[in-house]
Amino acid sequence: MSGQVPAQEEMMMKLIRNSLAAIFVLASPGLVLVSAPAAAADAAACKLEITGNDQMQYDKKELSVPASCKEVTLTLHHAGQLPAAAMGHNWVLVVTPDLTAVANAGMGAGLASDYIPAGDKRVLAHTKVVGGGQTTSVTFSTAGLKAGGDYSYLCTFPGHNALMRGKFKFG
Ligand code: CU
Repeated sequence: MSGQVPAQEEMMMKLIRNSLAAIFVLASPGLVLVSAPAAAADAAACKLEITGNDQMQYDKKELSVPASCKEVTLTLHHAGQLPAAAMGHNWVLVVTPDLTAVANAGMGAGLASDYIPAGDKRVLAHTKVVGGGQTTSVTFSTAGLKAGGDYSYLCTFPGHNALMRGKFKFG
Protein backbone atom coordinates (compact mmCIF):
# COMPACT_ATOMS: atom_id res chain seq x y z
CA MET A 1 0.00 0.00 0.00
CA SER A 2 2.69 2.47 1.05
CA GLY A 3 4.51 2.05 -2.31
CA GLN A 4 1.41 2.81 -4.38
CA VAL A 5 0.96 6.43 -3.32
CA PRO A 6 4.27 7.73 -4.72
CA ALA A 7 3.60 5.79 -7.95
CA GLN A 8 0.19 7.42 -8.27
CA GLU A 9 1.71 10.82 -7.61
CA GLU A 10 4.30 10.19 -10.29
CA MET A 11 1.53 9.26 -12.73
CA MET A 12 -0.31 12.47 -11.92
CA MET A 13 2.80 14.57 -12.43
CA LYS A 14 3.41 12.92 -15.81
CA LEU A 15 -0.18 13.61 -16.78
CA ILE A 16 0.11 17.24 -15.78
CA ARG A 17 3.40 17.64 -17.66
CA ASN A 18 1.91 16.09 -20.79
CA SER A 19 -1.18 18.28 -20.52
CA LEU A 20 0.92 21.42 -20.20
CA ALA A 21 2.97 20.37 -23.23
CA ALA A 22 -0.24 19.78 -25.18
CA ILE A 23 -1.62 23.18 -24.20
CA PHE A 24 1.61 24.86 -25.29
CA VAL A 25 1.56 23.11 -28.67
CA LEU A 26 -2.11 23.97 -29.20
CA ALA A 27 -1.64 27.58 -28.12
CA SER A 28 1.24 28.32 -30.50
CA PRO A 29 -0.71 28.06 -33.78
CA GLY A 30 -3.50 29.95 -32.01
CA LEU A 31 -1.17 32.88 -31.42
CA VAL A 32 -0.24 32.98 -35.10
CA LEU A 33 -3.91 32.95 -36.11
CA VAL A 34 -4.72 35.78 -33.71
CA SER A 35 -1.80 37.99 -34.76
CA ALA A 36 -2.49 37.79 -38.52
CA PRO A 37 -5.81 39.70 -38.50
CA ALA A 38 -4.32 42.15 -35.98
CA ALA A 39 -1.51 42.96 -38.41
CA ALA A 40 -4.03 43.56 -41.19
CA ALA A 41 -5.99 45.94 -38.95
CA ASP A 42 -2.78 47.81 -38.17
CA ALA A 43 -2.08 48.40 -41.86
CA ALA A 44 -5.43 50.22 -42.18
CA ALA A 45 -4.82 52.10 -38.91
CA CYS A 46 -1.55 53.45 -40.36
CA LYS A 47 -3.39 55.34 -43.12
CA LEU A 48 -4.73 58.78 -42.23
CA GLU A 49 -6.90 61.27 -44.11
CA ILE A 50 -7.50 64.93 -43.49
CA THR A 51 -9.30 67.61 -45.48
CA GLY A 52 -8.69 71.35 -45.73
CA ASN A 53 -11.17 73.91 -47.05
CA ASP A 54 -11.47 77.50 -48.27
CA GLN A 55 -12.26 78.66 -44.73
CA MET A 56 -8.68 77.89 -43.64
CA GLN A 57 -9.67 74.83 -41.61
CA TYR A 58 -8.78 71.18 -41.35
CA ASP A 59 -11.70 68.84 -40.69
CA LYS A 60 -9.84 67.10 -37.82
CA LYS A 61 -8.34 68.44 -34.60
CA GLU A 62 -6.55 65.21 -33.84
CA LEU A 63 -5.03 62.28 -35.71
CA SER A 64 -3.71 59.12 -34.14
CA VAL A 65 -1.89 55.98 -35.19
CA PRO A 66 -0.78 53.01 -33.09
CA ALA A 67 2.91 52.82 -32.24
CA SER A 68 3.00 49.51 -34.14
CA CYS A 69 2.91 51.49 -37.43
CA LYS A 70 6.35 51.35 -39.03
CA GLU A 71 5.15 53.72 -41.73
CA VAL A 72 2.27 56.17 -41.87
CA THR A 73 0.54 57.42 -45.00
CA LEU A 74 -1.24 60.75 -44.68
CA THR A 75 -3.55 61.89 -47.45
CA LEU A 76 -4.52 65.56 -47.60
CA HIS A 77 -7.58 66.64 -49.57
CA HIS A 78 -8.42 70.24 -50.36
CA ALA A 79 -12.20 70.39 -50.57
CA GLY A 80 -12.28 74.10 -51.53
CA GLN A 81 -12.03 75.91 -54.86
CA LEU A 82 -9.40 78.58 -54.28
CA PRO A 83 -5.97 78.11 -55.93
CA ALA A 84 -2.84 77.16 -53.97
CA ALA A 85 -1.46 80.70 -54.24
CA ALA A 86 -4.48 82.11 -52.38
CA MET A 87 -5.58 79.28 -50.06
CA GLY A 88 -2.95 76.56 -50.34
CA HIS A 89 -2.71 73.90 -47.66
CA ASN A 90 -0.05 71.43 -46.64
CA TRP A 91 0.32 69.06 -43.69
CA VAL A 92 3.48 69.29 -41.62
CA LEU A 93 4.41 67.11 -38.64
CA VAL A 94 6.52 68.55 -35.81
CA VAL A 95 7.09 68.12 -32.09
CA THR A 96 4.60 70.52 -30.51
CA PRO A 97 7.17 72.97 -29.05
CA ASP A 98 8.56 73.53 -32.60
CA LEU A 99 5.19 74.42 -34.15
CA THR A 100 5.47 78.23 -34.14
CA ALA A 101 9.13 78.28 -35.18
CA VAL A 102 8.45 75.93 -38.10
CA ALA A 103 5.42 77.98 -39.15
CA ASN A 104 7.54 81.15 -39.18
CA ALA A 105 10.42 79.51 -41.05
CA GLY A 106 7.96 78.00 -43.53
CA MET A 107 6.46 81.39 -44.31
CA GLY A 108 9.82 82.58 -45.60
CA ALA A 109 10.40 79.48 -47.71
CA GLY A 110 7.69 80.40 -50.24
CA LEU A 111 5.12 78.48 -52.24
CA ALA A 112 7.73 77.02 -54.63
CA SER A 113 9.23 75.23 -51.61
CA ASP A 114 5.79 74.26 -50.28
CA TYR A 115 6.43 76.67 -47.37
CA ILE A 116 8.95 74.17 -45.99
CA PRO A 117 12.42 75.47 -45.10
CA ALA A 118 15.05 73.41 -46.93
CA GLY A 119 16.74 70.79 -44.76
CA ASP A 120 14.83 71.79 -41.60
CA LYS A 121 15.23 68.86 -39.19
CA ARG A 122 12.29 70.09 -37.11
CA VAL A 123 10.02 69.05 -40.01
CA LEU A 124 9.38 65.37 -39.26
CA ALA A 125 7.17 64.80 -42.30
CA HIS A 126 5.24 66.96 -44.75
CA THR A 127 3.11 66.99 -47.87
CA LYS A 128 3.38 69.50 -50.67
CA VAL A 129 0.97 72.42 -50.89
CA VAL A 130 -2.32 71.76 -52.69
CA GLY A 131 -5.06 74.07 -53.94
CA GLY A 132 -8.83 73.57 -54.18
CA GLY A 133 -9.90 70.20 -55.57
CA GLN A 134 -6.43 68.68 -55.24
CA THR A 135 -5.20 65.75 -53.17
CA THR A 136 -1.70 64.79 -52.12
CA SER A 137 -0.20 62.24 -49.79
CA VAL A 138 3.02 61.47 -47.98
CA THR A 139 4.32 58.20 -46.55
CA PHE A 140 6.87 58.52 -43.79
CA SER A 141 8.77 56.24 -41.43
CA THR A 142 7.95 56.40 -37.73
CA ALA A 143 11.49 55.26 -36.80
CA GLY A 144 12.30 58.70 -35.37
CA LEU A 145 9.04 59.07 -33.41
CA LYS A 146 8.63 58.18 -29.75
CA ALA A 147 5.47 56.41 -28.58
CA GLY A 148 3.46 58.84 -26.48
CA GLY A 149 5.51 61.84 -27.69
CA ASP A 150 4.00 65.31 -28.00
CA TYR A 151 3.47 65.83 -31.74
CA SER A 152 1.41 68.32 -33.69
CA TYR A 153 0.57 68.95 -37.32
CA LEU A 154 0.02 72.27 -39.00
CA CYS A 155 -0.35 74.03 -42.31
CA THR A 156 2.66 76.30 -42.96
CA PHE A 157 0.93 78.48 -45.58
CA PRO A 158 1.45 82.00 -44.15
CA GLY A 159 -0.98 82.68 -41.31
CA HIS A 160 -2.83 79.36 -41.55
CA ASN A 161 -1.36 77.67 -38.47
CA ALA A 162 -3.46 79.89 -36.21
CA LEU A 163 -6.44 77.73 -37.17
CA MET A 164 -4.91 74.86 -39.07
CA ARG A 165 -3.21 72.75 -36.42
CA GLY A 166 -3.94 69.63 -34.44
CA LYS A 167 -2.49 66.94 -32.23
CA PHE A 168 -0.82 63.87 -33.68
CA LYS A 169 -0.90 60.91 -31.33
CA PHE A 170 1.58 58.11 -31.85
CA GLY A 171 0.84 55.09 -29.69
CU1 CU B 1 -3.41 76.10 -45.14
